[in-house]
Amino acid sequence: MRLCGSLKFEDQLEQTHGGTVTSSDSTGQVEAEPDPTGGGEPDPSGEPLLELRKLSKHFGPVQALTDIDLKVYSGRVTALVGDNGAGKSVTLKTIAGIHPPDGGQIYWEGQPVHIRTPRDSASLGIETVYQDLALCNNLDIVQNMFLGRERTRRVLMDENAMETAAGQTLSSLSVTTVQSVRQVVASLSGGQRQAVAVAKAVMWNSKLVIMDEPTAALGVAQTAMVLALTRRLAERGLGVIFVSHNFNDVFEVADQIAVLYLGRLVASIPAAHLDRQMVVDLVTTGTTTRDVPGQIRPNGA
Ligand SMILES: Nc1ncnc2c1ncn2[C@@H]1O[C@H](COP(=O)(O)OP(=O)(O)OP(=O)(O)O)[C@@H](O)[C@H]1O
Ligand SMILES: [Mg+2]
Repeated sequence: MRLCGSLKFEDQLEQTHGGTVTSSDSTGQVEAEPDPTGGGEPDPSGEPLLELRKLSKHFGPVQALTDIDLKVYSGRVTALVGDNGAGKSVTLKTIAGIHPPDGGQIYWEGQPVHIRTPRDSASLGIETVYQDLALCNNLDIVQNMFLGRERTRRVLMDENAMETAAGQTLSSLSVTTVQSVRQVVASLSGGQRQAVAVAKAVMWNSKLVIMDEPTAALGVAQTAMVLALTRRLAERGLGVIFVSHNFNDVFEVADQIAVLYLGRLVASIPAAHLDRQMVVDLVTTGTTTRDVPGQIRPNGA
């Protein structure tokens, strides 16, 4: 059994990645096959991939989310922005099954679903790339991408198959700066690590990738690489939720911008209809006096 730091793979996943291990038998054989080519086509019918209706969440006296209505589409990057404490992380953790909502309903491909655990979320095809990435520095790229989901060939892990799938996934995302999939993650740059985390997320038939502040710790060139990677996911038909404080990144990558203000969703508008000042207004006051086409609920009312 390989160790990630001092933890077993499965324990490490449960703790840091929200337990995205798919069902496995005692040999570690997984039922789900990785999909190096990524997800499906953009949805032509216009039905949201994910829809939140009147979603609410409180922690004791803290009302973190109130009546959130949000539609997320395949083939589009939806940026989720808001000030500190606005509810961005709680929203994505609700979708990821870490904080089940206490009010409202989640729809997935038009059907009501209950996402109670990270496994529920993963089984729908939702993968979350957390800011800390949940990669194991002491393991190589292949080992990280198959963390807890190792392919087996009789009793031995099929290293060749895993290596091929990991390499194919990275090259299908045009990640060319990584020299070898056998490189230990500790030796990668921040941008390369982010790329491996994203590649890991899209390898498992995922349909929606959620990225929490993916560029926060990155330099200029690495940020450009991650933004390009984010666009590529959408071009391949996946839905993407991109949480960020950086409005330059948001305008570069987003098709749709959704704004949270004090736990309420005050706007969800095509990025082409917004400028930076409007987003600043919405984030800081919950409304804007400028003329914006689309749906705005001033101050969340
Ligand atoms: N586990 C928790 N227990 C209690 N309150 C929480 C918990 N998680 C979040 N909150 C509260 O919910 C609100 C929204 O927090 P959230 O982490 O979603 O903010 P955010 O928009 O991600 O902010 P930031 O930009 O600072 O990351 C905050 O008031 C926060 O204190
Ligand atoms: Mg947050």
